Amino acid sequence: MAWVYLNGRFLPLEEACVPVTDRGFLFGDGVYEVIPAYGGRLFRWPHHLQRLQNSLDGIRLVNPLSDAQWRDMLEELLLRNRAQAGGDNDQAVYLQVTRGSAPKRDHCFPRDTVPTVYAVSNPIPPPDPAIARDGVAAVTLADSRWARCDIKAVTLLPNVLSRQQAVDAGASEAILIRDGLAIEGTSSNLFVVCDQRLCTPPKSAYMLPGITRDLVLELAARNGIACDETDIGASTLAQAGEIWITSSTREIVPVTRLDGQAVGTGAPGPLWRTMSELYRDYKAEVRAGRAH
Ligand code: PDD
Repeated sequence: MAWVYLNGRFLPLEEACVPVTDRGFLFGDGVYEVIPAYGGRLFRWPHHLQRLQNSLDGIRLVNPLSDAQWRDMLEELLLRNRAQAGGDNDQAVYLQVTRGSAPKRDHCFPRDTVPTVYAVSNPIPPPDPAIARDGVAAVTLADSRWARCDIKAVTLLPNVLSRQQAVDAGASEAILIRDGLAIEGTSSNLFVVCDQRLCTPPKSAYMLPGITRDLVLELAARNGIACDETDIGASTLAQAGEIWITSSTREIVPVTRLDGQAVGTGAPGPLWRTMSELYRDYKAEVRAGRAH
């Protein structure tokens, strides 16, 4: 049985309900985080907590819990769901905060509502060996999202529609293009290897500042791998030797086909292999309690 947290209580998933007047349901008026936990230890917790705060500030919602309350609650959730996570106890936490419920639907903020706080954790499946062997396909699509993609808002309709368009085309991610520049995926950040140099688009209001992206940049710097945070033109993508997408749930995934054409040799590249080993070693440090 999966446990969830809802507004101060731990409940079986089946028993967790929110009112239909919740603004998350009516307006998508809320924010979320996805946080992996390896061996029961929250991965990059301070970074996720800071991004949650930035998202709450971005939608003018007061954080309903203190840092310690968040941590205690999530650690208890991970413990309660441990049995279903298997030997490694790797789980992904999803948490969501909405502006709560008001009796009458009204676009402007209601007075005196209490935010709805929800969290759930699920086992992280072991990595799919086919991805390391073959990589995945992606397509490029015009970015139809709003101008505050740095807020991790639950309002994800453009991401959902673009991802489905990619899946319908036999691909697993869409790389979104705005004003001629490649920004990120529908639920992932973007890295490109061009002329042996690793590049990723700079942070802006048009992209989510990924925690995995930041860790890849840190690992690159620590291991003498040059990486530029620089604009990536859509035409550069077509000439890239390697393309990767990164996220907390998918980690670092090599894109080996883009818009039906092979990327580089058409197989996962050498720099991807190096970086995914560095990432795997970092996760082992987290499991052992020597990093977070
Ligand atoms: N999505 N960009 C977008 C638009 C995302 O939704 C995500 C993550 C990322 C990568 O961020 P991070 O490395 O912090 O996971 C980039 C999560 C996993 C989701 O929506 O499920």
